[in-house]
Amino acid sequence: MAATYLVTGANRGIGLEYAKQLRARGETVIATCREVEKATELKDTGAEVHALDVASEASITEFAKGLGDRAVDVLINNAGVSSTSKSLADCTQEELARVLLINSIAPMLVTKALLPHLKRGTRKQVVSISSQLGSIANNTGGSSYGYRASKAALNQFNRSLSAELAPLGFHTLCMHPGWVRTDMGGPNATLSTEESVKSMLGVIDKARDVASGSFLNFDGKPLPW
Ligand SMILES: NC(=O)c1ccc[n+]([C@@H]2O[C@H](COP(=O)([O-])OP(=O)(O)OC[C@H]3O[C@@H](n4cnc5c(N)ncnc54)[C@H](OP(=O)(O)O)[C@@H]3O)[C@@H](O)[C@H]2O)c1
Repeated sequence: MAATYLVTGANRGIGLEYAKQLRARGETVIATCREVEKATELKDTGAEVHALDVASEASITEFAKGLGDRAVDVLINNAGVSSTSKSLADCTQEELARVLLINSIAPMLVTKALLPHLKRGTRKQVVSISSQLGSIANNTGGSSYGYRASKAALNQFNRSLSAELAPLGFHTLCMHPGWVRTDMGGPNATLSTEESVKSMLGVIDKARDVASGSFLNFDGKPLPW
């Protein structure tokens, strides 16, 4: 039976590819983006397109309210931004706060707002798109101050979420999508969006085989914290 997936930041890149592949296999997709009128390719997938700016708590509240009493089976927190803080000299309060707000705080607030809808769903899955750059163990090169910290915080939020929601039957994951050819990943990245999302969906479909709260690569292998 078709499930209902909710994907944030679905107008381009990895989020758009999630919408394409999920629709192609007959799932119901609630896809969100900031500018609905410009999301032509997303609308063409047959996904339901809703406005959501994840950086705005008011937008999150309004979006969740608009879903009424609908059920959501799988939430994919995908929307994210890269950071310009390559060195300490680049770090400003505004830049660090912006990246942490969008990449770490927003996925938790979106999950909080959608909890009633997820409780009504049968799958009760929350997947947050993280990055291997969020691995503290693997950080020997530095740079990307805001981005690395934001994804490490996202991973930690996910662990807390998995512990709190386990008694309700929830399963949560953080996933690194690989280095993917998108506006963020750039043209030299090793994976196409098709390859990355196909592999991640294979992992998400069998998520219950691994512990809730895990941090996984796009191919399902565990990543170091
Ligand atoms: N590509 C990679 O190699 C790579 C590697 C590791 C992790 N990731 C992660 O994968 C996810 C998707 O990245 P991508 O490569 O597809 O990036 P992308 O092509 O730059 O797309 C980013 C998406 O996030 C949306 N977004 C940004 N700020 C938003 C906000 N305030 N509210 C709502 N949506 C917002 C963008 O919408 P607008 O069009 O409105 O800006 C866009 O849809 C991100 O979480 C990223 O950190 C990517």
